Amino acid sequence: MNIILLGPPGAGKGTQARTLVEERAMEQLSTGDMLRAAKDSGTEMGNRVADVMARGELVTDEIVIGLIEERLAGDRPEGGFIFDGFPRTLAQADALGELLRRRGETLDAVISMQVEDEALVRRVSGRFTCGNCGEVYHDETRPTSEEGVCDHCGSTDLRRRADDNAESLKQRLLEYYKKTSPLIGYYYARDELSSVDGLGEIAAVSSAISSILDKA
Ligand code: AP5
Ligand code: MG
Repeated sequence: MNIILLGPPGAGKGTQARTLVEERAMEQLSTGDMLRAAKDSGTEMGNRVADVMARGELVTDEIVIGLIEERLAGDRPEGGFIFDGFPRTLAQADALGELLRRRGETLDAVISMQVEDEALVRRVSGRFTCGNCGEVYHDETRPTSEEGVCDHCGSTDLRRRADDNAESLKQRLLEYYKKTSPLIGYYYARDELSSVDGLGEIAAVSSAISSILDKA
């Protein structure tokens, strides 16, 4: 099964993808995580995109499609792929369709996660992640059990993102509404779209996603 998690910054795409990886043996392909990894390892491309990401603008289609294309040239994960934060433009959506077609695969569900803007601001401003295993936390809604230590892997390398500030978030939201939200109509018209209320508790959102996938 190949699925897309579609939603604005802070909607909970990464949080839900991690549950799907554990429960369904799927592989999470987050272009945001891939780009941050390129930046952390100091590759030429990573250095080129760092400022664009920190400002909250979109990286070029060419770069992100290239990242996905590279991964899709390899083996199929047992449970299929979760596309998290990709596609984000119509050109990326067309490219993904073509890449899957070439592999003889289909898109099984596109899940639009709906969360109002005010809640997105709260979520993004309280977020921190584990630099070692990628677990996603929140100061208020999902703190670690022991302060400063990741529940999942025990690492003390807990980080905040360079783009999780009010100014970048405003830009990320603008980019989302201008360039990414048209994908809701794109997938709706293809009968591929399902929606979940992303405002509920994390476990409630997970079970809403699970029931969509069980029917797909
Ligand atoms: P990316 O990393 O994809 O960021 P984003 O889309 O802005 O989304 P986030 O990761 O901020 O949010 P999320 O939905 O994953 O939420 P999370 O689960 O963490 O992209 C970053 C940048 O990279 C872009 O701005 C762009 O520059 C570039 N980029 C990436 N992909 C690109 C592409 N395809 N094309 C071009 N450029 C690209 O949750 C957020 C917080 O809320 C956490 O603290 C979490 O604990 C909490 N939370 C989650 N769910 C709930 C819940 N149900 N209730 C309460 N709290 C919750
Ligand atoms: Mg994310």
